[in-house]
Amino acid sequence: MKNLFILLLVCLSVTFHGEYEWQDPKSEEEVVNVVVGDKDGNKFNVRGKIGDNLLYLSKRFEVQMEGACEASLACTTCHIYVDHEFLDLLPEATETEEDLLDQAPFLKENSRLGCQIILNKQLDGLKVTLPAATKNFYVDGHKPTPH
Ligand code: FES
Repeated sequence: MKNLFILLLVCLSVTFHGEYEWQDPKSEEEVVNVVVGDKDGNKFNVRGKIGDNLLYLSKRFEVQMEGACEASLACTTCHIYVDHEFLDLLPEATETEEDLLDQAPFLKENSRLGCQIILNKQLDGLKVTLPAATKNFYVDGHKPTPH
């Protein structure tokens, strides 16, 4: 019975992670545009909305932000650089986020974890860039597939 309950919880979390980000904005007032640059210099114009989690939004637009732990603050594969003009508009990183970032390769002073960024109207025009590489904490080479 306990195992069934745990399985149910896992299924629910898989179903709901990122579901909101697949909904289109209901009005232009809700729209928050983001430009994501990848390590090869490609730019992706991502049309998000207030409340979107940047990691899940990036997955919807097929941007290569990995997010191995599904936003549970247990990896650094959603590492990004935030354009300096937007850095102060973000809430301060928590201690856990800071600790994880300390383990991220190619760390910079404008590094953040993409899964911790929730869009609001002030962030319209946000520019972020993916680092040259991220570090996956899985020791067996496993790469989780997006939900
Ligand atoms: S996806 Fe793992 S910390 Fe962001």
